[in-house]
Amino acid sequence: MADLSGKVAMITGAGSGIGQGTAVRLARDGADICIAEIDLDAAEETASMVQEFGRSAHIVQCNVASKDQVQDAAHTCVSKLGGLDIAVANAGIGRGGSVLNLELKDWQDQVDINLTGVFLTVQAAAQRMVAAGNGGRIVCISSLAALNTSEWMWGYSATKAGVAMMVRGWASELGRHGININAIGPGVIDTPLAHGLAGDEGGPIRTALEAATPLGRTGVPSDIAGLISFLVGPDADFMTGSYLVMDGGIRDARGGGLLEDPETPLGQERARHMQASEERNARLQPLIDQR
Ligand SMILES: NC(=O)c1ccc[n+]([C@@H]2O[C@H](COP(=O)([O-])OP(=O)(O)OC[C@H]3O[C@@H](n4cnc5c(N)ncnc54)[C@H](O)[C@@H]3O)[C@@H](O)[C@H]2O)c1
Repeated sequence: MADLSGKVAMITGAGSGIGQGTAVRLARDGADICIAEIDLDAAEETASMVQEFGRSAHIVQCNVASKDQVQDAAHTCVSKLGGLDIAVANAGIGRGGSVLNLELKDWQDQVDINLTGVFLTVQAAAQRMVAAGNGGRIVCISSLAALNTSEWMWGYSATKAGVAMMVRGWASELGRHGININAIGPGVIDTPLAHGLAGDEGGPIRTALEAATPLGRTGVPSDIAGLISFLVGPDADFMTGSYLVMDGGIRDARGGGLLEDPETPLGQERARHMQASEERNARLQPLIDQR
C-alpha cells in the first residue's frame, strides 16, 4: 500500500465505477481527493466514502470535454485542497455501433470525452504540476479495447488506442519535469458502463465471461484502483509512458466474442443489458450536452 499522506489527487469521473473505486483507494492511502464529475449526485456519494477515511473531498462539476471546466477543476483542486500531485484521467463513455449507421453525434461525444477529455485533463494537471515544481503522477484510463476490437466497439477502441499512444508521446516531455504518466488497459470490470458486457452476477453472460477468463472472474473497480495506487506511489518511480493491461487474462481468450452474436441466447441477453445501459446514457446525455 502506497503512503500518499499529504498528496492531493484529482480524479475525473470519480462518481462511479473505476473512478469511485480509485477515489476510495487513494483516500485509504492517505490522499485528499478532488472529484471532477459531470454527475453531482454520484460525486456526493463518492465524497462521503472519501470522508469516511478521514480525508478531504472536494467536488467540482466538470464535463471533461470542456477546456474551461477542466481548467476550473484543476484550479479549484489547488485552491481548495492545496495542490495537485496526482491526476487520474478516468472519465469515459462507450458508444458502440455499426459503421453503416453510427450517429455522428455518438462518434463525436466519444471522441470529445474519451480522447479530448483525457488531453484536457492531462494538460490542466500537468500545467499545475510544472508550475509547482514538485513533479507529479498521472494515470490515464485506456482499455483492453485499445488492443482488441469488434464491429461494434471500433469507435471506442479508436479513442482508447489514442489514449495509450498520447501517453507514450507525453511521457518524454513530462519526464523532464519529474512527472510520470502511464496508461492502464482494464479488461471487463463490473461497473455501470460495462454492465452489458459483464451481465448480472450468476447470470448467463457473467457465467460465460468467467468461463472464458483465465482467472475465472470479471474485474472489480478495486482491482484497477490497486494498480493506480501502485502507479502513483514510490514503487513506480522508474515507470513512465507504459500501457498496462489488467484483464484476468481474457485478452487472448477471446471470450468477449461469445457475447457479440445476436443470434445466440447470450447475444439476446446482452441486448437486454445494453437496453439498461441506454437508459442510463439517456439520463447523463443532457449533462454531456452542456459544454
Ligand atoms: N468498466 C470496464 O469494463 C472498463 C474497461 C476498460 C476501460 N474502462 C474505462 O474506465 C473508465 C471508467 O469507466 P467505468 O467503467 O468506471 O464507467 P462508469 O460509467 O461507471 O463511470 C464513469 C464516470 O464518468 C462520469 N462521466 C461521464 N462523462 C463525463 C464527462 N464528460 N465529464 C466528467 N465525467 C463524466 C460518469 O458520470 C461516471 O460517474 C472509462 O474511461 C472507461 O472507458 C472501463
